[in-house]
Amino acid sequence: MKMLKTLAAAALALCAAATVQARPLAEIQKSGTIILASEGQYAPFNFFKGKQLTGYEIDVAEAVAKKMGLKYEWKTVGFDALLTGLQQDRWDLVIASHGITEERAKAATFTDPHYCSGGQIVSMKPEIAKAADLAGKTVAVQTGTSYLQHVKEVPGVKDVKNFPTDEAARSALSSKRVDAWVTDRFVAKEMLAKAPKAGFKTGDMLFIEKVAAAVAKGNQPLADAWNKAFKELVADGTVGKISQKYFQEDVTCK
Ligand code: ARG
Repeated sequence: MKMLKTLAAAALALCAAATVQARPLAEIQKSGTIILASEGQYAPFNFFKGKQLTGYEIDVAEAVAKKMGLKYEWKTVGFDALLTGLQQDRWDLVIASHGITEERAKAATFTDPHYCSGGQIVSMKPEIAKAADLAGKTVAVQTGTSYLQHVKEVPGVKDVKNFPTDEAARSALSSKRVDAWVTDRFVAKEMLAKAPKAGFKTGDMLFIEKVAAAVAKGNQPLADAWNKAFKELVADGTVGKISQKYFQEDVTCK
């Protein structure tokens, strides 16, 4: 009997977890807590320092939530599952370096961008630096990213290898299993600064993008409230400070 009760309690708890909703703004405000989701494997934007989720996007999101008068709770899942999770009402907002694309905008509503960046070519050979140099070469990218999309469009690329995380794509390059890696320019900058002797060389930018948080498709009131709070935090210098902390420069869109 006791065992049955425990089982029933566990099943109830599971149901409660599964019904967490991408809720309308009023409902989030009423509960007092916004459910945020990120990946946690994309330094310096979102990553784990030991057990602590941290990074530019994490600090920004926490500051915005506070400004909105809300507490926050984080969920971390693989990059691939983040936007789908919005559609499944598993969390209220995703912040994980998603570039604003037409394709993604069909399935989710983007906030204003919290940084402007783009995909950059990284290799270990000086002769691989431009898009044209990728012809006949093997290129590593993270699955589901705008890097994958854009590398596919470069004429003559021999093979695009997909990895579940950006870090795995980077290790493929450092162990010379691929000729090049395409990643965010600030990720590349940070990596070069951390491991100046690793032999990585940054080449041209393949494309530029505006990076934003996303909410469930049509949840414009939540996006608006987020945007208002974010603007205030840009104006009072909070976002600038967070940016300096992680990048030693201002990464916001000018
Ligand atoms: N900015 C790129 C994109 O829009 C890469 C994002 C990767 N994000 C991550 N959390 N690994 O697809």
